[in-house]
Amino acid sequence: MPTRTLLAALPDQKPDPLLALIKKFASDDRPGKIDLGVGVYRNAEGKTPVMAAVKSAEHHLWETQDSKSYIGPEGDPTFVSLLAQEVFCDGMVTENLAGVQTPGGTAALRLSAEILAHDNDRSIWIGTPTWANHNAIFATVGLGIKTYRFFDPQTQAVRVDEMLSAFESAKCGDAILLHASCHNPTGAAISAEVWSAIAEIVARKGLIPLFDNAYQGLGRGFAQDVEGMHTVLKAADEAIVAVSCSKSFSLYRERTGAAFVLGNSATDVARGVANFAYHARASYSMPPAHGAAVVATVLADAGRRKLWIDELASMRSRIFEIRTELTNRLSAYMPQLAAVADQEGMFSLLPLTPENITHLREVHGIYMPDSGRVNLAGLRIEQVDQVSRAIGQLL
Ligand code: LMR
Repeated sequence: MPTRTLLAALPDQKPDPLLALIKKFASDDRPGKIDLGVGVYRNAEGKTPVMAAVKSAEHHLWETQDSKSYIGPEGDPTFVSLLAQEVFCDGMVTENLAGVQTPGGTAALRLSAEILAHDNDRSIWIGTPTWANHNAIFATVGLGIKTYRFFDPQTQAVRVDEMLSAFESAKCGDAILLHASCHNPTGAAISAEVWSAIAEIVARKGLIPLFDNAYQGLGRGFAQDVEGMHTVLKAADEAIVAVSCSKSFSLYRERTGAAFVLGNSATDVARGVANFAYHARASYSMPPAHGAAVVATVLADAGRRKLWIDELASMRSRIFEIRTELTNRLSAYMPQLAAVADQEGMFSLLPLTPENITHLREVHGIYMPDSGRVNLAGLRIEQVDQVSRAIGQLL
């Protein structure tokens, strides 16, 4: 029988290293093990609780939801419009902005990649390092990827000049990927001056900013975390914003997010949304409803919204406390690490080698990805000393 194999011809695929780390950590039976790996928020007891506002919304939905019938590839329009009010500023939510609900921020990025890739002459510019999955998302749709160095772990500094000159060399119509705040994996913040410089280049060169907004509220403040993004969006002719509710609402496994387009006319953004819906239908058909229903129920009610905003603020201040304590200790071993205090969100990228990371895991039971990214929210305050000593000896 003639054979043209299916399975044997497939490429070997390694498991996603970050997700593989979750399994590795779970199978370690040492009681003192510490997980600084995957980016989930943990409280002072090391738990990732369901937020009180989310519980309240779920209770409300349990009592009132009367159907599980289909909604559609665009998802719930009430969720999309309530979320838009939180992400964009006054004057930006007009007929020139529209969006769809997506299964998490990842699907929002994937839909964005699909519409960007429609023009096969377009490239996307990505600063390195970045979230490990960004490359795969854009490469899968065949979008040309151009990289520039964004951050130097040794000096803990953003390479502003390299970033701006990369944008200067981009072609009109190219996309640039920007992290709205809480840069993953570095935590490095971009100053207001640099956001303005990016905005100026975007406007002058006709670039398309694509924002990954996955940690709003866990950086400097809920509104502050999108100020830089607003500066750039105001200057851009057209733009895309991918929003994740995983971290901001602690809804990780519910896969809740949205993709927004900003354009020159209501007709253009409607075309953008129709193309999002087309690609959604061709892959997952429709987004799962529950997480978005929860978010909409939180945002639509002033009391629940306040509960959520307050809880988010206390999550933010716990991360900030860990960041300060860790910086105080690590900077004694390596003065450049004083800069970690000025970073934001869950992550920082420490100058550790893969051998250092294996040593930390095998000898101390401290887990982090090979990049040296640490999830500060994985640390309990009483562990900071022990972890700093273990890391400090390797710096
Ligand atoms: C992370 O970077 O750890 C998170 O965004 C989780 C993920 O899906 O990779």
